[in-house]
Amino acid sequence: MARKTSKTSARSANARPANALWGGRFSGGMAAIMEQINASIDFDRRLYAEDIQGSIAHAEMLAAQSIISKVDAKAIVKGLKRVQGEIEAGRFKFSRALEDIHMNVESRLSEIIGKPAGRLHTARSRNDQVALDFRLWVRRAVDEADVALADLQTALIDKAEAHAGTIMPGFTHLQSAQPTTFGHHLMAYVEMFGRDRGRLRDARRRLNECPLGAAALAGTSFPIDRHRTAKALGFDRPTANSLDSVSDRDFALEFLAAASISAVHLSRFAEEIVIWCSAQFRFVKLSDAFTTGSSIMPQKRNPDAAELVRAKAGRIIGALNALLIVMKGLPLTYGKDMQEDKEPTFDATDAFALAVAAMAGMVRDMQPNAAVLRAAAAQGHATATDLADWCVRSLGIPFREAHHLAGRAVRLAEQKGVDLAEMTLADFRSVDRRITRAVFKVLTVERSAASRTSYGGTAPANVRRQAKAARKAWL
Ligand code: ARG
Repeated sequence: MARKTSKTSARSANARPANALWGGRFSGGMAAIMEQINASIDFDRRLYAEDIQGSIAHAEMLAAQSIISKVDAKAIVKGLKRVQGEIEAGRFKFSRALEDIHMNVESRLSEIIGKPAGRLHTARSRNDQVALDFRLWVRRAVDEADVALADLQTALIDKAEAHAGTIMPGFTHLQSAQPTTFGHHLMAYVEMFGRDRGRLRDARRRLNECPLGAAALAGTSFPIDRHRTAKALGFDRPTANSLDSVSDRDFALEFLAAASISAVHLSRFAEEIVIWCSAQFRFVKLSDAFTTGSSIMPQKRNPDAAELVRAKAGRIIGALNALLIVMKGLPLTYGKDMQEDKEPTFDATDAFALAVAAMAGMVRDMQPNAAVLRAAAAQGHATATDLADWCVRSLGIPFREAHHLAGRAVRLAEQKGVDLAEMTLADFRSVDRRITRAVFKVLTVERSAASRTSYGGTAPANVRRQAKAARKAWL
């Protein structure tokens, strides 16, 4: 119950009392907050071009089917183009009272052309209208993500070819494992981003059906031609079920899922760049173009772009989760909950575009430090596997036994405080008398890398071949 004080009653004699806790700014009880929670125009204005494109296709179909007159359709199309011009010139006044982009556009259309504007919404509902607009928008986002990832792959392949023979340590558990090359490492990401593009393309194929004409949910009694509008808007076909058409957003979910997986790839690479740029690693250097300084520590050169790419992954994965959770309990068909599909999708799309572009920039910018990489590759007895393999090949020793033998050699090297390749022949002989001078040939990191010629392996000749093949497959 409202508490009556002389102060409030003096100020608003007949007004409905506002909520004592949060109602201070409200003049008309629930109406203001209702408008606020209901309106989507602040974000769905981003759909203006798709909304107008869809309306033009709809109007032209209505005329072709003699549902409205050709004269009215002409006026509608002309008026819609003018509305688009106004929006693009920044002269359009968006109104919250008109709720969303659909009603903002239609209301302005009727100001411009008058009565015929009222015929545009024949055989249509905002439910199929928004399903169409959003699908068109996501389709473009998918296509733009594909182009951006192709550019990132180009940057990676160029750099990989330049460094096909640049030795670096390969890690497992972030422990020195076996020598590899910088080019081979970058080509691993080319594969990942290639699969990401494959997922986007798969999503696009399923997405590319036109929901327009499903109307509110059940279809319409007007003799519309859904095949015509589908074709006009670049879809492969109309959607088959009107209920499904207005009530699912799986096309956006698939895009967000593909973007999330790709963002995970970007984030892992970003994390490697952060590690590689540290004073302890110094594997690569980013120029001033992709680093920032510290306001207190003059020596700092921080890989902020990489850190932010890593963080953007969190936002993108968050958007996927947000929309999954919005959708998971909705009964068919449309529910206003689905208006909440747009903000996370827009935000994730922006974040993804930024992250991919920043990563491509960093790849083009980064200079691997070949001397440091080689020295790091030689540390940690990274050619111990090569020693074991040599024993198998040259001495006919079973691999398990050879592994043991190489382990004893590593232990001796550690006792002597040298790397495996720095031991003398006498040292090796003390481990096993059968070892000959020929063993030294396989213990250098260059030999180790070059020897891994198995398909998909690290050998520089392989990497160059892979790079060429990837260019052909992806670019
Ligand atoms: N702004 C709405 C949305 O984004 C448009 C559809 C409104 N439909 C309705 N039945 N109220 O979902």
